[in-house]
Amino acid sequence: MFNYDEMAKLYSKRGATVPKPEMIKTPEQIEGIREAGRINTLVLDEVAKHIKAGMTTNEINDIVHKKTIELGGIPAPLNYEGFPKSVCTSINDQVCHGIPDDTILKDGDIINVDCTTIVNGYYGDASRMFLIGNVDEAGKFLVKTTKEALDLCLEKIKPYDRLRDIGYYIEKYCKERGFSVVHEVGGHGVGVDFHEDPFVFHYGKKGTGMVLFPGMIFTIEPMVNEGTRNIFLDASNDWTIYTDDGGRSAQWEYTLLMTEEGLEILSK
Ligand code: MF3
Ligand code: CO
Ligand code: CO
Repeated sequence: MFNYDEMAKLYSKRGATVPKPEMIKTPEQIEGIREAGRINTLVLDEVAKHIKAGMTTNEINDIVHKKTIELGGIPAPLNYEGFPKSVCTSINDQVCHGIPDDTILKDGDIINVDCTTIVNGYYGDASRMFLIGNVDEAGKFLVKTTKEALDLCLEKIKPYDRLRDIGYYIEKYCKERGFSVVHEVGGHGVGVDFHEDPFVFHYGKKGTGMVLFPGMIFTIEPMVNEGTRNIFLDASNDWTIYTDDGGRSAQWEYTLLMTEEGLEILSK
Protein backbone atom coordinates (compact mmCIF):
# COMPACT_ATOMS: atom_id res chain seq x y z
CA MET A 1 0.00 0.00 0.00
CA PHE A 2 1.16 3.50 -0.86
CA ASN A 3 2.47 5.43 2.13
CA TYR A 4 2.89 9.15 1.43
CA ASP A 5 5.39 9.96 4.21
CA GLU A 6 7.61 7.04 3.30
CA MET A 7 7.65 7.82 -0.42
CA ALA A 8 8.03 11.56 0.09
CA LYS A 9 11.07 10.92 2.25
CA LEU A 10 12.55 8.44 -0.19
CA TYR A 11 12.26 10.70 -3.26
CA SER A 12 13.15 13.93 -1.45
CA LYS A 13 16.36 12.29 -0.32
CA ARG A 14 17.21 11.66 -3.97
CA GLY A 15 16.65 15.36 -4.68
CA ALA A 16 13.32 14.99 -6.49
CA THR A 17 10.32 17.28 -6.11
CA VAL A 18 7.45 15.39 -4.51
CA PRO A 19 3.74 16.24 -4.59
CA LYS A 20 2.36 18.27 -1.71
CA PRO A 21 0.23 16.13 0.64
CA GLU A 22 -2.97 17.83 -0.59
CA MET A 23 -2.23 16.67 -4.14
CA ILE A 24 -2.97 13.12 -2.99
CA LYS A 25 -6.73 12.70 -3.04
CA THR A 26 -8.51 10.81 -0.23
CA PRO A 27 -10.69 7.79 -1.12
CA GLU A 28 -13.76 9.94 -0.47
CA GLN A 29 -12.52 12.68 -2.82
CA ILE A 30 -11.68 10.08 -5.47
CA GLU A 31 -15.22 8.71 -5.38
CA GLY A 32 -16.66 12.23 -5.69
CA ILE A 33 -14.38 13.12 -8.60
CA ARG A 34 -15.12 9.77 -10.25
CA GLU A 35 -18.84 10.62 -10.21
CA ALA A 36 -18.23 14.14 -11.56
CA GLY A 37 -16.08 12.61 -14.29
CA ARG A 38 -18.75 10.05 -15.16
CA ILE A 39 -21.36 12.77 -15.58
CA ASN A 40 -18.95 14.97 -17.52
CA THR A 41 -18.40 12.09 -19.98
CA LEU A 42 -22.17 11.71 -20.40
CA VAL A 43 -22.42 15.41 -21.26
CA LEU A 44 -19.80 14.99 -23.98
CA ASP A 45 -21.66 11.89 -25.22
CA GLU A 46 -24.76 14.07 -25.59
CA VAL A 47 -22.78 16.60 -27.67
CA ALA A 48 -21.46 13.75 -29.83
CA LYS A 49 -25.03 12.64 -30.55
CA HIS A 50 -26.16 16.01 -31.88
CA ILE A 51 -23.19 17.94 -33.26
CA LYS A 52 -23.41 18.57 -37.00
CA ALA A 53 -22.90 21.07 -39.82
CA GLY A 54 -25.39 23.95 -39.75
CA MET A 55 -25.52 24.09 -35.97
CA THR A 56 -24.21 27.13 -34.06
CA THR A 57 -21.76 26.89 -31.17
CA ASN A 58 -24.50 28.51 -29.05
CA GLU A 59 -26.59 25.40 -29.70
CA ILE A 60 -23.72 23.24 -28.41
CA ASN A 61 -23.69 25.47 -25.33
CA ASP A 62 -27.43 24.84 -24.84
CA ILE A 63 -26.99 21.06 -25.15
CA VAL A 64 -24.16 21.08 -22.59
CA HIS A 65 -25.96 23.37 -20.19
CA LYS A 66 -29.26 21.43 -20.27
CA LYS A 67 -27.70 17.97 -20.05
CA THR A 68 -25.40 18.99 -17.19
CA ILE A 69 -28.32 20.31 -15.13
CA GLU A 70 -30.48 17.29 -16.02
CA LEU A 71 -27.75 14.99 -14.65
CA GLY A 72 -27.50 16.97 -11.42
CA GLY A 73 -24.32 18.87 -12.25
CA ILE A 74 -23.22 22.47 -12.70
CA PRO A 75 -21.28 23.58 -15.81
CA ALA A 76 -18.00 24.82 -14.33
CA PRO A 77 -17.02 27.27 -17.11
CA LEU A 78 -20.11 29.46 -16.62
CA ASN A 79 -18.96 32.61 -14.80
CA TYR A 80 -15.56 31.04 -14.07
CA GLU A 81 -13.25 34.07 -13.91
CA GLY A 82 -15.81 35.88 -16.02
CA PHE A 83 -16.17 33.21 -18.73
CA PRO A 84 -19.66 33.86 -20.17
CA LYS A 85 -20.76 30.37 -21.31
CA SER A 86 -21.10 26.76 -20.09
CA VAL A 87 -18.58 25.14 -22.44
CA CYS A 88 -15.57 26.01 -24.60
CA THR A 89 -15.95 25.47 -28.35
CA SER A 90 -12.76 25.97 -30.38
CA ILE A 91 -12.91 25.73 -34.17
CA ASN A 92 -10.00 25.24 -36.62
CA ASP A 93 -7.30 27.83 -35.74
CA GLN A 94 -8.78 28.40 -32.28
CA VAL A 95 -6.47 26.56 -29.88
CA CYS A 96 -8.71 26.66 -26.80
CA HIS A 97 -11.21 28.72 -24.78
CA GLY A 98 -13.42 29.49 -27.76
CA ILE A 99 -16.66 31.14 -26.60
CA PRO A 100 -19.94 29.78 -28.00
CA ASP A 101 -21.76 32.32 -30.18
CA ASP A 102 -23.78 32.39 -33.41
CA THR A 103 -20.93 30.91 -35.47
CA ILE A 104 -22.30 28.13 -37.69
CA LEU A 105 -20.40 24.83 -37.98
CA LYS A 106 -19.62 24.18 -41.59
CA ASP A 107 -18.58 21.19 -43.63
CA GLY A 108 -14.86 20.50 -43.16
CA ASP A 109 -14.49 22.22 -39.76
CA ILE A 110 -12.69 20.59 -36.87
CA ILE A 111 -13.94 21.59 -33.43
CA ASN A 112 -12.93 20.95 -29.84
CA VAL A 113 -15.69 20.82 -27.24
CA ASP A 114 -14.31 21.14 -23.70
CA CYS A 115 -16.70 20.33 -20.85
CA THR A 116 -16.13 20.62 -17.13
CA THR A 117 -18.81 19.50 -14.68
CA ILE A 118 -19.18 20.13 -10.95
CA VAL A 119 -21.06 17.43 -9.01
CA ASN A 120 -21.39 17.69 -5.24
CA GLY A 121 -18.50 20.14 -5.31
CA TYR A 122 -16.17 17.85 -7.28
CA TYR A 123 -14.87 18.49 -10.82
CA GLY A 124 -14.51 16.39 -13.96
CA ASP A 125 -12.87 17.94 -17.05
CA ALA A 126 -12.55 16.48 -20.56
CA SER A 127 -12.64 17.50 -24.20
CA ARG A 128 -13.00 15.85 -27.57
CA MET A 129 -12.55 16.78 -31.20
CA PHE A 130 -15.37 16.45 -33.69
CA LEU A 131 -15.02 16.29 -37.46
CA ILE A 132 -17.81 18.24 -39.15
CA GLY A 133 -18.82 16.62 -42.42
CA ASN A 134 -15.96 15.97 -44.80
CA VAL A 135 -12.64 17.01 -43.27
CA ASP A 136 -9.51 16.86 -45.42
CA GLU A 137 -6.86 14.21 -44.77
CA ALA A 138 -4.46 16.66 -43.11
CA GLY A 139 -7.14 17.72 -40.64
CA LYS A 140 -8.09 14.13 -39.86
CA PHE A 141 -4.44 13.24 -39.32
CA LEU A 142 -3.98 16.19 -36.93
CA VAL A 143 -7.00 15.15 -34.85
CA LYS A 144 -5.97 11.49 -34.83
CA THR A 145 -2.36 12.22 -33.91
CA THR A 146 -3.40 14.46 -31.01
CA LYS A 147 -5.57 11.71 -29.53
CA GLU A 148 -2.86 9.12 -30.05
CA ALA A 149 -0.34 11.36 -28.23
CA LEU A 150 -2.70 11.54 -25.24
CA ASP A 151 -3.43 7.79 -25.33
CA LEU A 152 0.29 7.08 -25.50
CA CYS A 153 0.63 8.61 -22.03
CA LEU A 154 -1.82 6.04 -20.63
CA GLU A 155 0.43 3.32 -21.92
CA LYS A 156 3.73 4.88 -20.86
CA ILE A 157 3.18 6.77 -17.61
CA LYS A 158 3.36 4.77 -14.38
CA PRO A 159 3.41 5.86 -10.71
CA TYR A 160 6.77 7.32 -9.65
CA ASP A 161 7.48 8.44 -13.20
CA ARG A 162 8.18 12.15 -13.52
CA LEU A 163 5.75 14.89 -14.50
CA ARG A 164 7.84 16.00 -17.48
CA ASP A 165 7.82 12.47 -18.93
CA ILE A 166 4.22 13.20 -19.99
CA GLY A 167 5.23 16.15 -22.12
CA TYR A 168 8.30 14.36 -23.41
CA TYR A 169 6.19 11.57 -24.91
CA ILE A 170 3.53 13.94 -26.25
CA GLU A 171 5.83 16.39 -27.99
CA LYS A 172 8.07 13.68 -29.41
CA TYR A 173 5.08 11.81 -30.86
CA CYS A 174 3.59 14.94 -32.43
CA LYS A 175 6.87 16.35 -33.75
CA GLU A 176 7.69 13.05 -35.43
CA ARG A 177 4.45 13.46 -37.35
CA GLY A 178 5.18 17.02 -38.44
CA PHE A 179 3.13 18.87 -35.82
CA SER A 180 3.98 21.33 -33.05
CA VAL A 181 2.76 21.40 -29.45
CA VAL A 182 1.51 24.50 -27.63
CA HIS A 183 3.67 25.24 -24.58
CA GLU A 184 1.89 28.08 -22.82
CA VAL A 185 -1.31 26.25 -21.91
CA GLY A 186 -1.23 22.91 -20.11
CA GLY A 187 -3.04 20.32 -18.08
CA HIS A 188 -3.59 20.69 -14.37
CA GLY A 189 -4.49 19.05 -11.12
CA VAL A 190 -8.26 18.84 -10.88
CA GLY A 191 -11.05 17.50 -8.68
CA VAL A 192 -11.56 19.59 -5.59
CA ASP A 193 -11.10 22.74 -7.66
CA PHE A 194 -11.19 23.50 -11.41
CA HIS A 195 -7.47 24.19 -11.77
CA GLU A 196 -5.11 22.85 -9.13
CA ASP A 197 -1.36 22.30 -8.99
CA PRO A 198 0.60 20.84 -10.63
CA PHE A 199 0.71 22.46 -14.08
CA VAL A 200 0.97 19.54 -16.52
CA PHE A 201 3.43 20.41 -19.30
CA HIS A 202 2.91 18.96 -22.76
CA TYR A 203 6.65 19.21 -23.48
CA GLY A 204 9.77 18.57 -21.48
CA LYS A 205 12.76 16.48 -20.63
CA LYS A 206 12.25 12.86 -19.60
CA GLY A 207 13.18 12.07 -16.02
CA THR A 208 12.58 15.60 -14.72
CA GLY A 209 9.86 17.31 -12.73
CA MET A 210 7.65 16.21 -9.86
CA VAL A 211 7.37 12.53 -9.02
CA LEU A 212 3.87 11.22 -9.84
CA PHE A 213 2.39 9.54 -6.77
CA PRO A 214 -0.68 7.29 -6.60
CA GLY A 215 -3.76 9.27 -5.63
CA MET A 216 -2.95 12.28 -7.81
CA ILE A 217 -5.72 13.42 -10.16
CA PHE A 218 -4.88 15.66 -13.09
CA THR A 219 -5.71 16.35 -16.72
CA ILE A 220 -3.59 15.82 -19.78
CA GLU A 221 -4.89 17.98 -22.62
CA PRO A 222 -2.40 18.52 -25.43
CA MET A 223 -3.03 21.28 -27.96
CA VAL A 224 -1.34 20.31 -31.22
CA ASN A 225 -0.86 22.60 -34.21
CA GLU A 226 -0.43 22.04 -37.94
CA GLY A 227 2.07 24.86 -38.24
CA THR A 228 3.83 26.99 -35.64
CA ARG A 229 3.29 26.34 -31.94
CA ASN A 230 3.08 30.11 -31.39
CA ILE A 231 -0.25 31.49 -30.25
CA PHE A 232 -1.99 34.75 -29.46
CA LEU A 233 -4.81 35.78 -27.16
CA ASP A 234 -7.90 37.39 -28.63
CA ALA A 235 -7.75 40.91 -27.20
CA SER A 236 -11.46 41.44 -27.82
CA ASN A 237 -12.53 38.83 -25.24
CA ASP A 238 -9.32 38.03 -23.31
CA TRP A 239 -10.14 34.31 -23.53
CA THR A 240 -9.83 32.72 -26.92
CA ILE A 241 -6.40 31.56 -28.01
CA TYR A 242 -5.52 31.28 -31.71
CA THR A 243 -2.57 29.88 -33.62
CA ASP A 244 -0.27 32.67 -34.75
CA ASP A 245 -0.09 31.45 -38.35
CA GLY A 246 -3.77 30.56 -38.80
CA GLY A 247 -3.00 26.82 -38.99
CA ARG A 248 -5.46 24.47 -37.36
CA SER A 249 -5.12 23.18 -33.81
CA ALA A 250 -6.52 20.04 -32.18
CA GLN A 251 -6.94 19.11 -28.52
CA TRP A 252 -8.12 16.12 -26.51
CA GLU A 253 -8.41 16.06 -22.72
CA TYR A 254 -8.95 13.39 -20.06
CA THR A 255 -9.26 13.61 -16.30
CA LEU A 256 -6.92 10.93 -14.95
CA LEU A 257 -6.31 9.20 -11.63
CA MET A 258 -2.86 7.85 -10.92
CA THR A 259 -3.36 4.43 -9.34
CA GLU A 260 -0.69 2.02 -8.14
CA GLU A 261 -0.93 0.35 -11.56
CA GLY A 262 -1.00 3.40 -13.82
CA LEU A 263 -3.40 6.01 -15.16
CA GLU A 264 -7.13 5.42 -14.95
CA ILE A 265 -9.50 7.58 -16.99
CA LEU A 266 -12.12 9.37 -14.86
CA SER A 267 -13.51 11.45 -17.71
CA LYS A 268 -13.00 11.40 -21.46
N1 MF3 B 1 -11.80 23.30 -19.51
C1 MF3 B 1 -10.61 24.10 -19.68
C2 MF3 B 1 -9.45 23.25 -19.19
O1 MF3 B 1 -9.32 22.18 -19.67
C3 MF3 B 1 -10.66 25.39 -18.95
C4 MF3 B 1 -11.68 26.31 -19.45
S1 MF3 B 1 -11.75 27.68 -18.49
C5 MF3 B 1 -13.07 28.47 -19.11
O2 MF3 B 1 -8.71 23.56 -18.32
F1 MF3 B 1 -13.37 29.41 -18.29
F2 MF3 B 1 -12.77 28.92 -20.30
F3 MF3 B 1 -14.07 27.62 -19.20
CO1 CO C 1 -11.12 21.21 -20.12
CO1 CO D 1 -8.48 21.05 -18.17
